[in-house]
Amino acid sequence: MKVTVFNGSPRGRKSNSHRIVEPLLEGAREVGAEAQEVFLIEKDVKQCLGCFCCWSATPGRCVLKDDMGELLELYLDSDCVGLATPVYNMYMTGLLKNFTDRFLPLATPHIRRSDDGTFYHEGRVRRFPRQFFIANSGFPGGHNFVVLESFYSVVKQMSPGNVLFELYRNCGEALSVPEEEHPELAARIAEFHEALRQTGRELVASGEVAEATVQKLHMELISDEEYMAGANLQWDAELGRAEA
Ligand SMILES: Cc1cc2nc3c(=O)[nH]c(=O)nc-3n(C[C@H](O)[C@H](O)[C@H](O)COP(=O)(O)O)c2cc1C
Repeated sequence: MKVTVFNGSPRGRKSNSHRIVEPLLEGAREVGAEAQEVFLIEKDVKQCLGCFCCWSATPGRCVLKDDMGELLELYLDSDCVGLATPVYNMYMTGLLKNFTDRFLPLATPHIRRSDDGTFYHEGRVRRFPRQFFIANSGFPGGHNFVVLESFYSVVKQMSPGNVLFELYRNCGEALSVPEEEHPELAARIAEFHEALRQTGRELVASGEVAEATVQKLHMELISDEEYMAGANLQWDAELGRAEA
């Protein structure tokens, strides 16, 4: 099985998103998958021009010359694709949004109505990979995921069974706290990493992820109060350094 994750964090290899994706892909590899993470920040992906040439003049092909052709091939060649992003202004990063806008050549132009009354464009290809979604927020709590959760509820309605799981990881910046600074947090993160490895293993071995595993992924890493206090202290120190 081929598993590919597209990481939409501008921080790339230093991102909290990568700290989440890496253990998951390790688990996938453990049970024989070919697994890779693509850092979109390292790729040349231009913004969609909205010209619809990919629907008319050059059906299925974008007029822009950049890395997107190769990335779409990789996307379609994968059995399972993950999209990973930090929460930016309550949604995904521009980098990931830009990337997904460029999926337009994979759809056909005519508008269809489904049995449930919603409208859609048929796919141009016979097989789309199954998918999963990972978001991490800088805030504690869950309210910063509301827009993404709502977006995914529509995606799931439009393609039933295609989304394997969604991970909404709050307190995302806790993932980059050095182990020696907070051993208790480090132990929780190690548990979280194990749940991610388990997710990767299940995904490849059975093509599904158990509900219990998805629940584990949403475990508390640190209390909201402690996270908030730690983050505020760190900003005080940063601002102090900037003033000095
Ligand atoms: C421009 C910008 C907008 C952000 N907007 C939000 C937001 O709406 N809600 C939130 O919880 N965190 C927000 N954050 C914080 C990031 O989600 C957080 O730092 C995250 O852990 C970064 O993950 P990464 O290392 O994978 O990029 C924002 C950060 C930036 C730079």
